[in-house]
Amino acid sequence: MATSNERRNRWVRHWNRGAARYDPTMRMLDRVLFRDTREWVCQQATGDVLEIAAGTGLNLEHYPAGIQLTGIDVSAAMLALAEKRAAELDLDVELRVGDAEALDVPDSSIDTVVCTFSLCAIPDHRRAISEIVRVLRPSGRLLLADHVVSSNAVIRAVQRLVEVMSIPVGGEHLRRRPLHEVESAGLVVERRERFALGIVERLVATKPRLDPPMPS
Ligand SMILES: C[S@@+](CC[C@H](N)C(=O)[O-])C[C@H]1O[C@@H](n2cnc3c(N)ncnc32)[C@H](O)[C@@H]1O
Repeated sequence: MATSNERRNRWVRHWNRGAARYDPTMRMLDRVLFRDTREWVCQQATGDVLEIAAGTGLNLEHYPAGIQLTGIDVSAAMLALAEKRAAELDLDVELRVGDAEALDVPDSSIDTVVCTFSLCAIPDHRRAISEIVRVLRPSGRLLLADHVVSSNAVIRAVQRLVEVMSIPVGGEHLRRRPLHEVESAGLVVERRERFALGIVERLVATKPRLDPPMPS
């Protein structure tokens, strides 16, 4: 029986091996499926921003000026490409190896958490979401986008079939719907869009303030 460390290392090796092939595939998906989602997500980021599972840094070019950005990912090979991209864009960003399921970030220290197309691949996405809630400041926001279970029954059946291979081979879950876990974790969804037969969902969710606002 594999330990959780062995399981984690297996997926780290998977992403390290696939890093060089990642951008062309993802650029194609961005064009045909995800559309303007990277821009939609990143343009809403403010303050201290933590990008979870930043990958090769495809979001970097979409952030506004004036934020302090840190990106983490389990794959050093993916991050090496993100470093190169950040240098080309002349961006001041901290990129480091880290695990979304156990963030090395203090409680309530982040204004914006960004996570794009990654909760489908993070083995324990519920744990990652509870870590996101932990590190967000009260009133801080999660900007999340992912491919999710379709709203169309035929597509759902196809997703179920594809998952038979995609989960064991690529760790890729097609029928998750992080919206539910985000709400269960106590975040308040303030904006949400779903398109492409319900396969793509993007949302903005806020961590409630600890104290109710003072009456004016
Ligand atoms: C599909 S890629 C998405 C990359 C990037 N967010 C994007 O939008 O292009 C999934 C990423 O999740 C990372 N990943 C998987 N499990 C992780 C974990 N437990 N903690 C941090 N990153 C993880 C992988 O290394 C990979 O870079």
